[in-house]
Amino acid sequence: MKKNFKFLLWLTLATLSQFSMAQKFPDLAKTPPMGWNSWNKFGCNIDEKLVRETADAMVKSGMRDAGYRYVNLDDCWHGERDAAGFIQADAKRFPSGIKALADYIHLKGLKMGIYSDAGKQTCGKRPGSQGFEAQDAKQYARWGIDYLKYDWCNTGEGAAQRNPREAYTTMRDALYAAGRPIVLSICEWGESKPWEWAGEIGHLWRTSGDIANCWECEVGHGSWSSLGVMNTLDKQAGLRKFSHPEKWNDPDMMQVGNLPTLGENRAHFGLWAMLSAPLFVGTDLREMSEEIRTVVTNREVIAVDQDELGIQGFPALKSKNIEFWVKPLAGGEWAVAILNRSDIPQTFQHNWKNHHLEDDLNGRAADFSKAVFTIKDLWAGASAGTTGDVLKVTVPARDLLMYRLKPEK
Ligand code: GAL
Repeated sequence: MKKNFKFLLWLTLATLSQFSMAQKFPDLAKTPPMGWNSWNKFGCNIDEKLVRETADAMVKSGMRDAGYRYVNLDDCWHGERDAAGFIQADAKRFPSGIKALADYIHLKGLKMGIYSDAGKQTCGKRPGSQGFEAQDAKQYARWGIDYLKYDWCNTGEGAAQRNPREAYTTMRDALYAAGRPIVLSICEWGESKPWEWAGEIGHLWRTSGDIANCWECEVGHGSWSSLGVMNTLDKQAGLRKFSHPEKWNDPDMMQVGNLPTLGENRAHFGLWAMLSAPLFVGTDLREMSEEIRTVVTNREVIAVDQDELGIQGFPALKSKNIEFWVKPLAGGEWAVAILNRSDIPQTFQHNWKNHHLEDDLNGRAADFSKAVFTIKDLWAGASAGTTGDVLKVTVPARDLLMYRLKPEK
C-alpha cells in the first residue's frame, strides 16, 4: 500500500513536472529586441536577395555593432505545405530555401526571424499555423530560426474566434517542444489586452494596431485603420506598468527612415527608445541615407532603450504642443526627451529645480534642489550644461530633443 502510494505520488509529480516544463524560452529578451523587419517598407514584395542584402547592410552600416541582431521576414515568404504537412518557402522568391538564408544570416553574426499566424491563413492569405503548430515549430527549429512573429488574422469571428491565450500558448509550447530557443512576438494588435496575460507566453506583444508611415494620421483600410506615429504613441498611455525585461510592450515596428523629415524620423526613434520598445527598423537598409544611419546607430539613444532596468518612460509634463518625457535609468540616471508635436518650432523653458522627477511606480526620484545633474544632449553627443541652470531651448517642428542626466559627483 505504502509502495503504491509512493509510486502514485511519483507519477503525479512526474506528470505535473512534464506539464510545467512547457514555458517560454528564458533569457532571450533581457532588453528589448532590435533588428529589421520587411513589412513596413516591402509588404509582400520580399525575396532572398533582399534578405541577404539587408543582412549585408546591417553589418556595413554599423547597425550590427550598435546592437541590432534580428533580420526578420514578415508575411508572404510562404509556399505550400508538403505532403507531410511541413511548410515550405515560396520556391520562386526563395529558391535556396530558408535554411540557407538563416545560415547566411548566422555567418554574419546576426539572427533570423520569421512570421506566421494563429489562424488558418496569414493576413496576406498564406498558410497559417492553426492545426500545424507542432510541425511549423519543428520546421523553424530545423531551419535555424531565432524569432517568430505570430499574427492574428483569420482566427474566426465572434464566439467562434480562437481564444488568444490558448492560441499563443499552443505555439509557445510547440516552440519549446521543438527545442530551439526562439523569441515569441505576439501580434494580436492589443485587442484582448495581452499585457494582462501574455507575460508567461511571449517575449513581447503588440499593444496597438499597425503603424502608418505618417506623423499624425489615420489611414482607413476598410474594416480597420493604421495609425501614424503620434496616434500610436498615444495608444501606449497607461501600459508602462506591464513592460519588463523578457516581457515588453511592442508599439510596432518603426517607420524610421520612411518618414519625410529628419526631425520626424529622429523623434520617432527617440520616443521608441523612451518607451523601451523593441527597435525594429522597417526601412530599406540598402538605401538608407547617412542622416538616418546616424539616427538608428546613435549609441546613446540605443542605450536609453536598452537600459538594464527596462523601465518604460512616460510624459511627466504635457502642454498643447510640448511633451516632457522621462525614463529612469540604471545608476540613478534619467533620460529626458522634449517632444514638439506641432508643425512650427516651439520655445521651451524648464527650471529643473521646480520640477522633481518622480516615478512612483518604480520608487525612483531626482530632486534637483538637492542634487545637481550633468546634462548630455544625445543627438549632438555634447554637454548641455547642468540642472543648476534653467533649460531654454527651441524644439524644431515635429522633432524631439533628447538628454541623459547624470548625478554630479
Ligand atoms: C498585420 C501585422 C503587421 C504585418 C501584417 C502582415 O496583422 O500587424 O505588422 O505583419 O499583418 O500581413
